[in-house]
Amino acid sequence: MRLAIFGSTGMGGGAAVAKALDRGLEVTVLARSEASAAKAPPGVRVVRGDALDPVAIAEALDGVDAVIQYLGVGGLGDGRPNDLVPSATRLIVEEMRARGIERIVCASNMGLPDSGAFVFRRVLVPLFARRLPPILDAKVEMEAVLAASGLRWTAVRLPALKRGPDRRTLKTDATGRATGYSIAVGDAADFMLDIIQTPAYVGSAVGISN
Ligand SMILES: NC(=O)c1ccc[n+]([C@@H]2O[C@H](COP(=O)([O-])OP(=O)(O)OC[C@H]3O[C@@H](n4cnc5c(N)ncnc54)[C@H](OP(=O)(O)O)[C@@H]3O)[C@@H](O)[C@H]2O)c1
Repeated sequence: MRLAIFGSTGMGGGAAVAKALDRGLEVTVLARSEASAAKAPPGVRVVRGDALDPVAIAEALDGVDAVIQYLGVGGLGDGRPNDLVPSATRLIVEEMRARGIERIVCASNMGLPDSGAFVFRRVLVPLFARRLPPILDAKVEMEAVLAASGLRWTAVRLPALKRGPDRRTLKTDATGRATGYSIAVGDAADFMLDIIQTPAYVGSAVGISN
């Protein structure tokens, strides 16, 4: 399988690239700077450009079978609205449709209005993660773009990603309410790569955790 991974230098996207290469998949990444391009592991096809540039997206999607979208605004961002993720997703979806590429798996977040444990939504976010709401709002918009796309999409609602070894345990829940507060970054990548080649969770959002 030939895979395009957007957000490949981030914590989540970097793990997805490494795991995809381990599985023998062909990987293309989009890098918006020399520094980002230099981080691509050997064997990865690097396209230089921005995720808001349709021409760069078209080049990144040339010849690929499926897409992982792991873009982010850098940690919790600055607390202000930022439409990078939904806008880039809209462009990616349009280009996928034009090319007949059907499968896309996107990083979303635990804590969207109808997901996440009660304590997470009503206690942790308001008290300890006040910069998170604009990120959640952007993911609500992203999931709406996916739902209207006609593609075979899945939004993976992630809790906090943890560095370190894979834990190889997995809880999944369609509502995200029965999942925990973190997941090893490698386990999240494995989940995305497992489902991208199957009909599992097509046309839906799913919460995951260790
Ligand atoms: N980290 C977590 O604990 C966590 C938990 C739940 C959900 N998530 C979600 O997972 C996603 C990724 O998070 P993360 O922490 O792994 O990543 P991150 O640190 O936010 O990295 C973002 C990635 O997107 C790329 N990017 C940003 N703007 C771009 C643009 N205009 N054009 C091209 N590339 C661009 C960055 O590339 P550069 O190298 O060029 O900056 C980087 O590779 C986010 O949507 C986040 O909300 C993360």
